[in-house]
Amino acid sequence: MASINIDNVQKAFGKVIAVDHLNLDIKDGEFFTFLGPSGCGKTTTLRMIAGFYYPTKGVVRFGKKDMTRVPPEKRNTGMVFQNYALFPHMTVFENVAFGLRVRKLGSKELNIKVKDVLQKVRLEQYADRQVSQLSGGQQQRVALARALVIEPEILLLDEPLSNLDAKLRDEMRSEILRLQKDYKITTIYVTHDQAEALSMSDRIAVFNFGVCHQVGTPSEIYNEPANDFVAGFIGEINLLPVKIGKVEQEYIYVMVQNGESSSELAVRNAPFNYKEENKGNLALSIRPEAINILDEEREGKNIFKGTIEEVQFFGSLINILVRTGGLQLQVNALNSGLSRNLEAGSEVWVELPDEQMRIIPVVNGDGS
Ligand SMILES: Nc1ncnc2c1ncn2[C@@H]1O[C@H](COP(=O)(O)OP(=O)(O)OP(=O)(O)O)[C@@H](O)[C@H]1O
Ligand SMILES: [Mg+2]
Repeated sequence: MASINIDNVQKAFGKVIAVDHLNLDIKDGEFFTFLGPSGCGKTTTLRMIAGFYYPTKGVVRFGKKDMTRVPPEKRNTGMVFQNYALFPHMTVFENVAFGLRVRKLGSKELNIKVKDVLQKVRLEQYADRQVSQLSGGQQQRVALARALVIEPEILLLDEPLSNLDAKLRDEMRSEILRLQKDYKITTIYVTHDQAEALSMSDRIAVFNFGVCHQVGTPSEIYNEPANDFVAGFIGEINLLPVKIGKVEQEYIYVMVQNGESSSELAVRNAPFNYKEENKGNLALSIRPEAINILDEEREGKNIFKGTIEEVQFFGSLINILVRTGGLQLQVNALNSGLSRNLEAGSEVWVELPDEQMRIIPVVNGDGS
């Protein structure tokens, strides 16, 4: 059983609370990602799962077993450290074999296991090479092989691709996913790269300042962010301060300050969209690709006249900044050919579809 349960865990270093009130349930075989900016507690949490740190408060369980104070060598976790932590003077083979030697495995079995895993990470021809003579990407794969060779129940990867160039990173992403599926290992992957998190994970936990703000599938995190921090950290977003007006079963009417005046918007009152207890400090969020640009005025809800201020052409995508009254909206449109007159200074209408807007709490990034 290799599910992981983190039960109300806190880790303090003196006065610094690196991780606070953390509750997570990671399923057997899941590819689970910790995502968040530098210093938010990702490595600290990973180290508590590996046993290199013990929590100040709370319980860590594997399956139903309490592992909180079990030392790392008794946990059956394989970890790839943020800086790889390889032995530079030793060969690739010896680096990978290290964990097996510690476990006093016989030489025949050891040879088979090391060769097998080196083949899996496509390094079999480098077995006798010193690690110091390898490229960054190759070293990264040695670190991965060293973590995999002990056949861990849990694989912990701490920003394993951060030192690689874009092409190698792409290759290694697929390789890690392939290995994870091959071995069916419960995997926790740490990154601050949102595209990596969205494209690789079964589920993601988004951290900031030691607090987990949301856990969900990539689509939940992107489409239904829990607050302004999650919304802003993942992808681009328009966040507009709002005041709540009438709340009906189907619609919430909100007032957006728009220069001197304010405009009313009708937002669909979907489940999760608006909670009474968060009435204090709210924002309306809408993704740039959800806003429609219209060349002509049209009857309908949430349509405003505006002027294009800036156009950035990316080929398949066009990013447009539209000013409507006192508001500036980021709009990302698909390139639909030459026919459209999307130029700075043009007059347009923007439509904010009611089902694409969400009312979310503003936490100012500190989790309060
Ligand atoms: N051994 C330690 N002693 C004191 N403070 C620490 C220690 N390790 C981490 N911290 C602090 O705890 C907080 C969380 O650190 P952590 O290394 O978990 O962040 P991270 O999310 O992994 O960041 P990065 O993306 O930069 O690797 C930071 O404020 C850090 O300074
Ligand atoms: Mg870290």
